[in-house]
Amino acid sequence: MYFQKKSEFPEDFLWGAASAAYQVEGAYLEDGKGLSIWDEFVRIPGKTFKGTVGDKAVDFYHHYQEDIALMAECGLKTYRFSISWPRIFPNGHGEVNLKGIKFYDHVIDECLKYHIEPMVTIYHWDLPLALEKEYHGWESRQIIDDYVNYAKTLFQYFGHKVKYWITFNEQNVFARLGWTLGQHPPGKIDEQKLFYQVNHHVNLAHAKTVLAYREMNLRGKIGISFAYSPSYSLDCRPENGLAKADYDDLYLYWYFDIAGYGRYPQAAYQYLKEQGFAPEITDEDRELLRQAAPVDFMGINYYKTKVAQYNPIDGVTMTTVANNSGIKGSGQVVGVPGVYKNPANPFLQTTSWDWAIDPQGLRLGCRNITSRYNLPIVVSENGLGAIDHLEDHQIHDDYRIEYIQSHLLELRNAIQEGCHVIAYCVWSFTDLLSWLNGYQKRYGLVYIDRDEDENSGTLERIKKDSFYWYQKIISSHGKCLD
Ligand code: BG6
Repeated sequence: MYFQKKSEFPEDFLWGAASAAYQVEGAYLEDGKGLSIWDEFVRIPGKTFKGTVGDKAVDFYHHYQEDIALMAECGLKTYRFSISWPRIFPNGHGEVNLKGIKFYDHVIDECLKYHIEPMVTIYHWDLPLALEKEYHGWESRQIIDDYVNYAKTLFQYFGHKVKYWITFNEQNVFARLGWTLGQHPPGKIDEQKLFYQVNHHVNLAHAKTVLAYREMNLRGKIGISFAYSPSYSLDCRPENGLAKADYDDLYLYWYFDIAGYGRYPQAAYQYLKEQGFAPEITDEDRELLRQAAPVDFMGINYYKTKVAQYNPIDGVTMTTVANNSGIKGSGQVVGVPGVYKNPANPFLQTTSWDWAIDPQGLRLGCRNITSRYNLPIVVSENGLGAIDHLEDHQIHDDYRIEYIQSHLLELRNAIQEGCHVIAYCVWSFTDLLSWLNGYQKRYGLVYIDRDEDENSGTLERIKKDSFYWYQKIISSHGKCLD
């Protein structure tokens, strides 16, 4: 839409940044923490870039005061971080590890000291390994009660201090990569039926947790975050228009509709049922999902858009080579045979990892969410993964500034168009470990001196140009964006 006068960000807008426990904390065996599935998976040769492990990560566990002080200096209004389940329950259930509780209590208090709103992700992929060994983790319905017990424990300890909760980070990524592409634990390939069943268990755990949270009357907000790549039809050929609808239903609304409406989209469900991939859903499940919807806010992790094109039945599949090397053009087109594929968008630049850079896609995504669900939106991640060069103790990351600036301008447009966006979190505040891409793909506003070698670097924190730029944006309440 065209508006003559530009609007501003709302007064109470939460300018933020985000991280995840496994990617920053390190201290993987300290203070009673149990192992997570990632602690084991990364040790399988060839799974991560240069064999990186998260044993030390960027050592947030010992640097949290320094890092949160930097957040305060930058002016953050919210910090989104995740809690490591095996730090709270080393065996997934049973006795609470009070040292783990103490650590997060300190992190939360440190945020509150600087008036930074803690936004907690309950699960960002680091499942206790013990549960994988005991009953194959997310493959079993048993996990639902263990997850709810873990979440309720967090609500009991931190519910009076934390007002924003995110049940899951990107089940559409961890389930797909874990059960169909073998790139995340448990490393299974093409287990379509299992993948949809796993995703269903995640939905049930989410729904039960939302209901438990509401019963506790804690007066905060609870939502969920998905990886969100809105789509364009390749062109106006009707078959491509339908491919877009199919992509949207199977790849996006299959997840979002549960959070928004408590049900799966019809066309996708019928398709999966015929394929033999649909999850087993009981009447009780249906009722539970329905009761928990809608969430209080929809979290979107936005990095890119996709193009949808009809994919013949003998066309490309999902199991092709991903670009985890940072060599432009090394990724391949993926798709679902007979349904859709996602060719590159010739009108957009890409990152070195072949992610299409599309600021307007963020606006489009917010508009889609608003039209379909009319729910508040938290942009729980957005940022640029790039190779940074340290020169004279400085990082001149104008490319990152340009990326964030262009996305924030479009976010402001979305807000003007009526989207109720409550927060924007840059991914990430400090550099961190990219699950599959080591430390060469950096996202932070603050550089951290280390690389793929576990013994490398001093872990010194160095503010990048983007740190100072974001500081100005926040202090001017977004006015400096123009
Ligand atoms: C999101 C995840 O998918 O994207 C983050 O929630 C992740 O944990 C981020 O780091 C960027 O992905 P990558 O692969 O570039 O590190």
